[in-house]
Amino acid sequence: MKSQARFGALFLAAWCSLLTGGRAEEAVSPPAIPKETPEQRDARMQWWREARFGMFIHWGVYSVAGGEWKGQPVRGIGEWIMNSANIPIEEYQTLATKFHPVKYNPAEWARIAKDAGMRYIVITSKHHDGFCLFESKVTDWDVVDATPWGKDLLKPLADECRKQGLHFCTYYSIMDWHHPAQYRGNDRAYNPTRIHPERKREYIEYMKAQLRELLESCNPEVLWFDGEWPDWYTEADGREIYAYLRQLKPELIINNRVGKGREGMEGLSREDREYVGDFGTPEQQIPANGLPGVDWESCMTMNDTWGYKQDDHNWKSAETLIRNVIDTASKGGNYLLNVGPTGEGEIPAASVERLAVVGRWMKVNGESIYGTQASPLPSTPWGRCTSQRLGDGTLRLYLHVFQWPESGRLTVEGAPGRPKAAALVADGSAVPAKPEGGAIVLDLPQKAPDSAASVIRLDLDANP
Ligand code: GLC
Repeated sequence: MKSQARFGALFLAAWCSLLTGGRAEEAVSPPAIPKETPEQRDARMQWWREARFGMFIHWGVYSVAGGEWKGQPVRGIGEWIMNSANIPIEEYQTLATKFHPVKYNPAEWARIAKDAGMRYIVITSKHHDGFCLFESKVTDWDVVDATPWGKDLLKPLADECRKQGLHFCTYYSIMDWHHPAQYRGNDRAYNPTRIHPERKREYIEYMKAQLRELLESCNPEVLWFDGEWPDWYTEADGREIYAYLRQLKPELIINNRVGKGREGMEGLSREDREYVGDFGTPEQQIPANGLPGVDWESCMTMNDTWGYKQDDHNWKSAETLIRNVIDTASKGGNYLLNVGPTGEGEIPAASVERLAVVGRWMKVNGESIYGTQASPLPSTPWGRCTSQRLGDGTLRLYLHVFQWPESGRLTVEGAPGRPKAAALVADGSAVPAKPEGGAIVLDLPQKAPDSAASVIRLDLDANP
């Protein structure tokens, strides 16, 4: 079956290069990106914009290594160990024979995300090492053929997510350290890969075949690309993949790393822009002013690695994570927070504990995050602000107070309207609010309801 598929791909590549006199790359003219009105785009992006908080999962055979090779700790992020320790493909493949995730419990993973207040999950379907967590007919380098586990890992998680009301999404790496069309540079480093030019078309078709398999088997709502930086991969390739996917599934959302948008300072194409993709992907940072005019999502690790590393204990505190969710929302973005399960399939306890604390905060204060927009205030020295326009025209501000004022007076400068009502989100108790010298002054209770962030709902009479 698979050798047939491989033969088919080789045949296709040979046929393409015959057609083009060897210039295999030009064989396919890029398909059109489906046109959509701004309203259609808003409808497509709606669930994602409202969700605001998601779980990133980096899982693969590198999780078995856990940051160690031949008994020695390897520097760098866990999922890069093949590159960092310069492991030959045949040796690296032995990790797969130890990938037997007996503790994998997709229902539990979905529950952990849901209880944290996350609304979607993005899991690695294939990372830079090329290993697939789903059943792929076009390679044996997948969980079904190469591991003792022998079963697709993504479909059960997709099913559980849907059962528990979470959106299921997949990450996919363009750079592939295992595929024979790509090879290492003279320095023996896998990154960035080079490509055999005559095999590039074959590899693009390989990606398309796998992406179709993914859509058909677990139907992700976002395709989250990465590894787009090798020079052989171009913006035109990105457009081809983007168009291909949107034709297969028109409502699909695709990040900017499908093309060269990251190099283009996160600029995205909306017909009139230069780069393809639906949202920007700042990594390990929350841009000071968000990314004005485009949708975006900050992805971040909870310690210092994406893939599991047994000796990385540099965990962010729950308070930092809560404030990061708030900070991102206050700038109009989503926060995609990573966990790196072990090779056995367990999300580290340190992550689970922190997520539970974040979840308790979200349970009380979630209305100040989901479906909100960026802050309209010029400055918020006491914390952060999110906003929401209500049906009756009221402008609702959510004031996230990090520094609870000892004086009991909170001064909000530059609010675009007059106060109508204010209350603590935690218990609904009213907070007196009055205009004073161009600002709004709130009379707060003595004690902060939450030491990480206390939220006040402030309704304003304000013109749209
Ligand atoms: C980087 C890394 C990769 C990680 C990704 C997450 O591109 O190469 O390992 O998956 O960031 O955004």
